[in-house]
Amino acid sequence: SNKKLLILPGDGIGPEVMREVRRVIDWMDRRRAVRFDIEEALVGGAAIDVHGVPISAETVAKAKAADAVLFGAVGGPKWDGLGFDRRPELAILTLRRELGLFANLRPATVLDPLVDASTLKPEVVRGLDIMIVRESTGGIYFGEPRGIESLPDGTKKGVNTEVYTTPEIERVARVAFELARRRQGRVCSVEKANVMESGLLWRQTVTALREREFPDVELTHMYADNCAMQLVRNPRQFDVIVTTNLFGDLLSDLASMLTGSLGMLPSATLGGLGPDGRRHALYEPIHGSAPDIAGKGVANPMAQILSFAMLLRFSFDMTEDAALIERACTNVLASGLRTADIMQPGMARVSTQVMGEAVTRE
Ligand code: NAI
Ligand code: MG
Repeated sequence: SNKKLLILPGDGIGPEVMREVRRVIDWMDRRRAVRFDIEEALVGGAAIDVHGVPISAETVAKAKAADAVLFGAVGGPKWDGLGFDRRPELAILTLRRELGLFANLRPATVLDPLVDASTLKPEVVRGLDIMIVRESTGGIYFGEPRGIESLPDGTKKGVNTEVYTTPEIERVARVAFELARRRQGRVCSVEKANVMESGLLWRQTVTALREREFPDVELTHMYADNCAMQLVRNPRQFDVIVTTNLFGDLLSDLASMLTGSLGMLPSATLGGLGPDGRRHALYEPIHGSAPDIAGKGVANPMAQILSFAMLLRFSFDMTEDAALIERACTNVLASGLRTADIMQPGMARVSTQVMGEAVTRE
């Protein structure tokens, strides 16, 4: 049966890099048995301009009905003054909430031809392939009580609370264990059980879940501060890292820079199972709408293309097609083509479109 795909290009370079994904999809449509039923809708500033809201109820309904959502990026200076409840970024926050997207997957992978672009030494990052699974709907960003309180003595108190329940911990840990089974079979669970009660519960819950359901997967535990250090000292020791919302926010940004460029990095956010047993999922590059280069045709389309590869792998079980796309990206880089953001001495600087055409041809 046809795969239902909702494409949301968004603002800035979003539509530019999405065009190159469409090029890859067109090629697949022409060559392969699999067909995609594709719908496209406006989100972010583009939707504000037309519908007055960053995402319409109709688009949310389409996302719920789709097998997977491919998202570009939203935002830009044109919509910066709109206020908290009308900003373009609400599009992604709304989708996360409505689809129950609780597990954010951020790979930190170094493609061989870009080893020298890393901030670390080539021998430290060659072959790096980490998957960080960040809990993304709970924890300290959402826990109650929260707020700023005035105290009788005229000073103030700011409060946030980290709350995790065992079901919240189990569902994100399950995603990590399942991923590890398809990779090197190792999960490192990261928290601060030494100083935080929620961290202690996290550690106990992940340990018990492994014993019950995933005895074949190797589980280690690490304190978050040590993990930050280990990611820089010897990142290749990790396979899958599973961690809380706050620590995952920091550690995934840190890990992404081991690999060099924002323009290369995909991500996925997975949700609960829908009524028909499908897992809701949204895929997007980690970069934003890059207003500074939008409209110039110079953005790197690889993060968006690799997000589509992740979609094929996790939502459509098209592992071989995903691997083909990833290999095509590696080969195109090896042939010496570079967009401006990943330019290296002696390489050929090309446009978004030329890069997309090269990946499709490869
Ligand atoms: P950004 O990721 O858009 O850009 C940061 C820097 O990286 C810029 O210099 C940009 O030119 C460069 N860059 C990003 N992607 C690139 C690509 N594919 N190829 C080449 N260069 C690339 O982050 P920034 O500047 O903080 O935010 C810009 C806008 O994007 C803001 O409105 C922000 O709110 C929004 N944003 C949206 C996100 C989303 O839709 N999920 C995520 C992050 C930011
Ligand atoms: Mg962050």
